[in-house]
Amino acid sequence: MSDLAGKHIVLGLTGGIACYKAAELCRAFVKEGATVQVVMTDAAEQFITRVTMQALSGLPVYFSQWDAREPNTMPHINLSREADAIVIAPCSADFMARLVHGRADDLLSLMCLARPIDRVPLLLAPAMNREMWAAPATQRNMAQLEADGAIILGVGSGFQACGETGDGRMLEPHELLEDIVAFLQPKPLAGKRVVVTAGPTFEAMDPVRGVTNHSSGKMGFAIARAAREAGAQVVLVAGPVHQRTPRGVRRIDVQSAQQMLDATLPEAAQADVFVATAAVADWRPASVSTSKIKKAEGGGPPALAFAENPDILRTVAQGERARSGRLFCVGFAAESDDLAANAQAKRARKGVPLLVGNIGPATFGQDDNELLLVDAQGTRPLPRASKRSLARTLVAEIARLLPSPA
Ligand code: CTP
Repeated sequence: MSDLAGKHIVLGLTGGIACYKAAELCRAFVKEGATVQVVMTDAAEQFITRVTMQALSGLPVYFSQWDAREPNTMPHINLSREADAIVIAPCSADFMARLVHGRADDLLSLMCLARPIDRVPLLLAPAMNREMWAAPATQRNMAQLEADGAIILGVGSGFQACGETGDGRMLEPHELLEDIVAFLQPKPLAGKRVVVTAGPTFEAMDPVRGVTNHSSGKMGFAIARAAREAGAQVVLVAGPVHQRTPRGVRRIDVQSAQQMLDATLPEAAQADVFVATAAVADWRPASVSTSKIKKAEGGGPPALAFAENPDILRTVAQGERARSGRLFCVGFAAESDDLAANAQAKRARKGVPLLVGNIGPATFGQDDNELLLVDAQGTRPLPRASKRSLARTLVAEIARLLPSPA
């Protein structure tokens, strides 16, 4: 699946050392299926060549408003009309100031001014020294640009090319890509709050050992990302996994089922949607030794007794908010066989309107999956696809099933 298939992006480069990251961003756009038209200012050309950007985008770079290649000699009109989005990366402090004032004496600022404002979004990835970023003039300009309808993609923090450390670095190409893909997705969950549990739980038996399972967390993280793309405010309660937190998602890390429940309840109390993808351990060791259990000579293995863990999904689904229809709960069922029958039974047992079935051992750790949606109307298979694509389909389905506001 290509996240930007069919999209046409005009990528504007202005003067800044972060131009080297724009090369990678351009490549990432193309890899995701977008066509990319690069436009550079004179200052950008001090940092990176047209040749580099043409090779990566596969299209000649535009740089002058007097460009004779355009039959009507109006590249500022033609380029801006074709775009699904104009992305300025890096966007220098000077270019922000030029946009604020509606300057139009070079191709890129002229094109931004000439864009159809209600149809072609303008996204800015600022890049500058920390003092320049914090300067009242820049902050004032940023506020004005937002008020004028531009989208400020934010800045990173850390070591800067000038040797100083602070805010103002351009976001990394993979961060910009994720934010821009999210921006271009439909927003059926705008204004909604979504809580997702993900990954396994780890149930300690002593300070070094415990009981867990093979869940990678990929499906839950994909759902959190898809919900954020759909415009929701998302909280992701994650067991121990090695996954990158999706951009714009608040993550709470936990270990045990009890910790997952404790973290989930206050969040679910304010949410509109709860999606339980976590592979929560059903049982935990009945007692946890405070020091490592030692192997005694000839003593044999220790006897392990288990206690039952709280059922997070059932607890939330039986809460007042869910029963009054203000919280829509979605469960997952990881089965090893007889998926449809097991999933229907589980939906009834958990008391949720929608349950998503999958064959657990076949999906743990994989990047793709196939799902079975089970609701009061019956079952509907979602054929094999990437977890990201399935997550988007599932989020769209959840949005469709949400009660419409009275
Ligand atoms: N779940 C949960 N808390 C638990 C166990 C499960 O929130 N203690 C949630 C899971 O996140 C999932 C759903 O319940 O959304 C079903 O999980 P699953 O392990 O398949 O179901 P169980 O109730 O444990 O049933 P069984 O293991 O008997 O199939």
